[in-house]
Amino acid sequence: MTVKPVEATTRSGMTLLPPFLAACLCRPVPHTPIWVMRQAGRYLPEYRELRSKVAFEELTRRPDLAAEVTLQPLRRFNLDAAILFSDIMTPVQGMGVELEFQPGPVVRNPIRTDAQIDALPELVPERDVPFVLEAIKLIRPNLPWSAPLIGFAGGPFTLLCYLVCGRPSKEFGPARAFLYSQPEAAERLLDKLADAMAAYLRAQAAAGAQALMLFESWAGLLAPKEFTRFALRGVRRTMAGLRSTGIPLIYYVNQGSALMDCVADLDVDVIGVDWRSPLGEVRRVLGPSKAVQGNLDPAALFSSPEELKRHADAVLEEAGPTPGHIFNLGHGIWPDTSPDAVARLVDHVHERTA
Ligand code: CP3
Repeated sequence: MTVKPVEATTRSGMTLLPPFLAACLCRPVPHTPIWVMRQAGRYLPEYRELRSKVAFEELTRRPDLAAEVTLQPLRRFNLDAAILFSDIMTPVQGMGVELEFQPGPVVRNPIRTDAQIDALPELVPERDVPFVLEAIKLIRPNLPWSAPLIGFAGGPFTLLCYLVCGRPSKEFGPARAFLYSQPEAAERLLDKLADAMAAYLRAQAAAGAQALMLFESWAGLLAPKEFTRFALRGVRRTMAGLRSTGIPLIYYVNQGSALMDCVADLDVDVIGVDWRSPLGEVRRVLGPSKAVQGNLDPAALFSSPEELKRHADAVLEEAGPTPGHIFNLGHGIWPDTSPDAVARLVDHVHERTA
């Protein structure tokens, strides 16, 4: 299967990028691009309908269904990007870690010993998670040029949180205690996960993903010093293996208000931020060469139509006129959100910035 070229050439010979990719590279855009974290999921009736018949894990393992769910939000909304339907724990399952989605990931034997870390095999994506690559190949030909496909993985530290703790948690106490009680073991686990995620994301790019995003959902659990020692160690290692793909790299740092200094010199194109950090401040710290992605509070989708526009405008205002802003929520959309609110948000951002 051939993959469509990313760049289109105009008659005058200029190359045009889809707005999402242009914004990732801090280039001028015809309008501010927008997509929504967790845009394929439970707030959509058509997802719930399919999900009532098929378990979540099967949705992720069946390329035709993963492709279908990826495309669902694109049929409803004028989104500027698609994101592969999968989970951050899918490649970890591919490495032989037994887990269940309940709906959050629950690991049968949490990883806490040297022997368990040593026993973790490397990830060979084509062998261990071929269905993910197959899904990407099915999705690409069905996407408009204007909506590039984002491939993703979990940040090594966020994966460590689930692997050590064994289940979703507010504070991930056992995972943080592990960093302090067994720091060298933690580093070895992070390095293994970082290499696995680099291989995984390279394979996604080869299959047709047009940008790559690492979700560091639990970054905010760490103080800057530990964030730098552990989380950034993993991210640097993963990202270093991805520059050769030549496609934009995005690092999402949830609850990262206190961590922006730490990521300012990270070799990525885009930093994704939650709603707690005003984008103007974030951009001052990151400088003009990094794009930002975010950061409307997912709760704002519950305000009145007029108020929602004002909240979206406030985000645009903070981001400012300098190129390099991708509009998004500050974290995943809530399952009880009205799809109508998403439609209004997407159209408003486009109209307001065109
Ligand atoms: O539209 C998209 O964004 C693509 C799909 C996607 C899922 N998970 C589907 C999913 C993505 C990008 C993820 C990433 C993911 N998974 C993250 C990082 C992003 C974030 O929210 O911080 C994390 C931390 C996970 C781990 C995870 N998987 C949790 C905590 C849960 C349960 C709670 C929840 O928010 O749904 C899951 C299960 C999961 N992953 C579901 C979906 C649609 C729900 C499963 C179901 O339908 O029952």
